[in-house]
Amino acid sequence: MLIYAHRGARGYAPENTMAAFKKALSLGADGIELDVQRTKDGEIVICHDHTVDRTSDGHGWIKNFTLARLKALDFGGWFSPNHKGETIPTLAEFLDWYKDTSLYLNIEIKNGPVLYSGIEQDILELIKHILPDWQDMLPRIILSSFYHPSLSAVKDIDARFATGLLYSSRPMDPVRLAKEIDANYLHPHWHYLDPIWVKAALDAGIGVNAYTVNTQEELSYIRQFQLNGIFSDFPDRASAF
Ligand code: G3P
Ligand code: MG
Repeated sequence: MLIYAHRGARGYAPENTMAAFKKALSLGADGIELDVQRTKDGEIVICHDHTVDRTSDGHGWIKNFTLARLKALDFGGWFSPNHKGETIPTLAEFLDWYKDTSLYLNIEIKNGPVLYSGIEQDILELIKHILPDWQDMLPRIILSSFYHPSLSAVKDIDARFATGLLYSSRPMDPVRLAKEIDANYLHPHWHYLDPIWVKAALDAGIGVNAYTVNTQEELSYIRQFQLNGIFSDFPDRASAF
């Protein structure tokens, strides 16, 4: 079972910053999960929320910021004084660091409530441009989203990229949904793991990765399922378990 550091190792460093990604690597995580948004001037940046309010010293919607203005904000001080001065990473900056690692990668496309039309194309172009061996790296990369049209868009652009169908409630038939849009993985919140659907997914060649598994109780619970991976804020806890 692969352990993905959720938003980087966000239990130990400010989420979705290079400090969090480097921490994940040093803790021995198998992979990294991160979230992407798009700026006013079309740059893909890594941030969970559509606004900067919670994770920086600024205010407002990312879609209304130019990259230069976003880069002037502090994305670390809210987490701890030691991390003051962390800046928002672009996906390009991240990929430039990532290309020399052997980590797995889950890029979560944050489409909705702000809709970033064409963001899927922007992301695939960056991957192809920055990762010289991107075709060899495809088995290590998943694009996921709660906004399922984005997963179809990825497949329309280049069906070789694996997609993960995120859900935080219980679809009637998640496996049928995944098949309809050729998704390669189910990405349920762990509350919605169900032995019947996990088995049905695996029988259909669809993998299952669950989020966000942090406590010992949660880790014990998910052990009963044959998961491909989990997302954890504390990747070291999960791998020690
Ligand atoms: O991709 C798994 C997980 O990150 C989904 O939820 O809200 O933490 O992005 P969220
Ligand atoms: Mg996420």
